[in-house]
Amino acid sequence: MLEIACGTGYWTKVIAETANSVLATDISPEMIEIARERLSGIQNVKFLMTDAYSLDGVPEGFTAAFAIWWWSHIPKSCLPGFLSVLHSKLQSGAFVLFVDQIPSAYEAKGRHKNEAGDFVEERTLPDRKKYEIVKNFPTEKEAFDLLKDSAKDIVYREYLEEHAWNLNYTII
Ligand SMILES: C[S@@+](CC[C@H](N)C(=O)[O-])C[C@H]1O[C@@H](n2cnc3c(N)ncnc32)[C@H](O)[C@@H]1O
Repeated sequence: MLEIACGTGYWTKVIAETANSVLATDISPEMIEIARERLSGIQNVKFLMTDAYSLDGVPEGFTAAFAIWWWSHIPKSCLPGFLSVLHSKLQSGAFVLFVDQIPSAYEAKGRHKNEAGDFVEERTLPDRKKYEIVKNFPTEKEAFDLLKDSAKDIVYREYLEEHAWNLNYTII
């Protein structure tokens, strides 16, 4: 199982309970360090610091991949490239799962569309510096259009009570 943008390893730990093995990746060394600590003593998980848009150092041939709360941060123009890199690391028949939030999940500050067509929102760090981050909410059609040539059994579902959408599919 390949995990993209594992963050502090919350979901890595959940998946590691049933996966044979997990390679959890993230671009941030600080996040990887926290995740390593959370999963210390768990034998079937390895970590790799790498950029999701290149996945340098990630071997090919995974039978499954997942990413939670990552898709929404991908600028729309980067989605085809990201998916192509991800799929290059997966076997035919591999299962892929994305989970992310629906717009009503929280009260967004300053949500608006930028010139590139991405939604952005304001975030304030503990040092009070303000940043704009990309936070997109794909439609079912957008996901299908992006995946139609590389995937089958595409399922997009919204879970209103959990304020989440799930997208899963199988690599052709
Ligand atoms: C909202 S967090 C989600 C973390 C985790 N999946 C979770 O649900 O707790 C997004 C994560 O994406 C990572 N990230 C940001 N840009 C990245 C990139 N280009 N490649 C890989 N990871 C990236 C951040 O370091 C952060 O850990």
